[in-house]
Amino acid sequence: MRQVAQMPNAPPASDSTAVRPDPAPPPILRVESVAKQFETADGVLVALRDISFSVARGELVSVIGPSGCGKSTLFKVIGGLERAFDGRVMVDGQTIAGTHAAIGMVFQEESTFPWRTVIDNVAFPLEIAGVRRGERLDKARELVALVGLRGFERRYPAELSGGMRQRVAIARTLAAEPKILLMDEPFASLDEQTRLLLGDKVVQIQQTLRQTTLLITHNIAEAVQLSDRIIVMTYRPGRVKRIVDVDLPRPRTSEIVGSEAFGRTVAQVWSDLREEATLGLEQDETRLLGAAGPPQ
Ligand SMILES: Nc1ncnc2c1ncn2[C@@H]1O[C@H](COP(=O)(O)OP(=O)(O)OP(=O)(O)O)[C@@H](O)[C@H]1O
Ligand SMILES: [Mg+2]
Repeated sequence: MRQVAQMPNAPPASDSTAVRPDPAPPPILRVESVAKQFETADGVLVALRDISFSVARGELVSVIGPSGCGKSTLFKVIGGLERAFDGRVMVDGQTIAGTHAAIGMVFQEESTFPWRTVIDNVAFPLEIAGVRRGERLDKARELVALVGLRGFERRYPAELSGGMRQRVAIARTLAAEPKILLMDEPFASLDEQTRLLLGDKVVQIQQTLRQTTLLITHNIAEAVQLSDRIIVMTYRPGRVKRIVDVDLPRPRTSEIVGSEAFGRTVAQVWSDLREEATLGLEQDETRLLGAAGPPQ
C-alpha cells in the first residue's frame, strides 16, 4: 500500500486549496483559442482564428474591429448561438455550450415585445422564471428606473424612441441577472447624441450593479468612453490585434469626450484600426474587381 508522508498538523493531502497561497480569482469569462469558419459557395471562409482573452468580474470590455472582421460571429459563439466552432468559452471556470443563463444578450436589432408594456417587457424573464407577480413588478420597476425610463412603465414600445426601446431591451436582459451582459452594437441604429447619452447610462448600470459587460462595437469613441479595456480585432480572419487599457478617470460622462486624454486614446485605437479597415476595403475592392480568388 502506498504511504503518504504527512506532517502531524498538516491539512489532509486531498485538501490542496488549504496549503496553497490565495490564487487570483478566476476570470468570469474566458475565451480560449476560439476559431470559426463558414462553408460558403466560394469555399471556406475563416471568420475567427485563435481568439483568446479574459474578462474579470465587473469589468467592461469592448471588442472593436472593422466591418466583417467577425465581431458578431464572436458574439454568437460566446452567447452559445453558434454551436460549431473550435476552442472553448468558459464562465466562472466552467466550459459552456449552447445558450446559457449566465450570459444575457442584447442585439442590435430591436427586440422588445411590441404587445407588452415597458414594465411587462422588463418583467418577462422573471415571469418565465416563475417569480411572483408583485415581486417581479417591483424588480422590473427598479430596473426601468435604472435605465432612466421611470414614468414610462405603462407605455408600449411603439410609443417610445429607438434609444428608449433599446434601454427597455437592456433592462429586460438585466432582469435575468446574467453574470455577463453581452451586447452586439446595441446603439448602432441611434444618432450620435443618443449614443453618447446611452453610453453614460451603460456605465452607470455597470457601476451600480458591478455588471460584467462585453460590448461589441465598431465605434471608437464609444469604446473609449465606456471601456476598461478594448480588444482590437484584425480584419478577416478576425484575431486579437491588440488589447488597449483605457486609463481614463471615471465617471466618464459624455463631457470627457472633449478632453485631450480621450483624444489620445481614440488616436491610439484608430491607428490600429485604420490598418485593418484599410486592408478590409482593399480586399473587398479586389474581390469586386474579380481579381481575387475565394474570400479568405
Ligand atoms: N452564417 C454565415 N455563413 C457564411 N458566412 C458568414 C456567416 N456569418 C458571417 N459570415 C461571414 O463571416 C465574416 C464575419 O462576419 P460578422 O458578421 O461576424 O462580422 P462583423 O465584424 O460583425 O461585421 P459588421 O461590423 O459589419 O457587423 C463575414 O465575412 C461574413 O460574411
Ligand atoms: Mg456585426
